[in-house]
Amino acid sequence: MIFHVAPMMGYTDYYFRNLLHFLYGDRIKTYSEMIVDKAIIHNTNNILNKHFCYSNRSVLQIAGSNPKEIKECIKIIDEIPYIKEINFNLGCPSSRVQENNLGLSLTQYPEIVENCLEQLIKSKKKISVKCRLGLGLKEDQKYIDNFILLFKKYNINKIIIHCRNGVLTFNTKNNRKIPNINYELFFKCKKKYSDLILIPNGEINNQDIINYFSNNLVKEVMIGRKFSEDPLFLNYNEILQIEDIGLSISNYLDFIQKYPIFKINLLIKSLLPLFNNLKDSKKHKKNIQSLCSLDEIKLFFKERTFIWN
Ligand SMILES: Cc1cc2nc3c(=O)[nH]c(=O)nc-3n(C[C@H](O)[C@H](O)[C@H](O)COP(=O)(O)O)c2cc1C
Repeated sequence: MIFHVAPMMGYTDYYFRNLLHFLYGDRIKTYSEMIVDKAIIHNTNNILNKHFCYSNRSVLQIAGSNPKEIKECIKIIDEIPYIKEINFNLGCPSSRVQENNLGLSLTQYPEIVENCLEQLIKSKKKISVKCRLGLGLKEDQKYIDNFILLFKKYNINKIIIHCRNGVLTFNTKNNRKIPNINYELFFKCKKKYSDLILIPNGEINNQDIINYFSNNLVKEVMIGRKFSEDPLFLNYNEILQIEDIGLSISNYLDFIQKYPIFKINLLIKSLLPLFNNLKDSKKHKKNIQSLCSLDEIKLFFKERTFIWN
């Protein structure tokens, strides 16, 4: 099974993604937070330095709705050797994103989606998409069928499907729980489009669900919130074993200090979820939050490798 870590604003930043790669190596695939194409065009260096740096292992996720801007953005990305894949966001329902007709909102206008794809696939990079199973509360096989066929037309064969419809009138919080997740419709699509790589996403957060997908011959899944709540859950459930957690964290700390815009508070933020589900979790978190330098953090972990054993 290949595990994709879902793009999550405010979570999957440069720190957290690299921490996960130091823990699991390349057995997981990570995605940047969504970046609007305009930001890349107008603020290229700042954006790329913040999200990627030279040693990037993650897919870049972009959003856009103007084919001309997508074209311009792609031209810039094509010159960046350490970005190998671009994922196009067609699923974000947030009101701010809607205002600019990005993400889920754009799927109301399939012809604009098509114009955007036309530009995207001119890129030298691998292109994938992330979309919702439907738009609105009701199951709508036509919606997902039409989009899968459109992606296929442009030879986009890696399609991440959030198996819950998106509802434009809901806030983001409700869009993460209503309507119910619908894996059955995903399986119908998987059977129908067996030549494409369809990757399910949404509430895949325990071993039973992972086994359910695996037993149904799904070889790749995307997981979001479970990674941000408990980055070590794959190891604890013996799904992906980490050989030496203490050493992985120590290597991560050595690596991250070379990040040109290193910030101690963001480093600590990335480390806090490691303590979730552990005995004395609150105490460890309070201790680490009181530290002020990287050396102190390194020492903190050196003295506590027993936690992981
Ligand atoms: C805090 C937060 C931020 C998110 N940001 C993005 C984003 O930038 N791009 C995107 O495609 N999806 C985003 N999502 C949606 C996730 O990628 C994923 O589709 C969703 O959380 C369902 O997966 P899960 O149930 O495993 O968490 C976000 C979700 C959360 C909870």
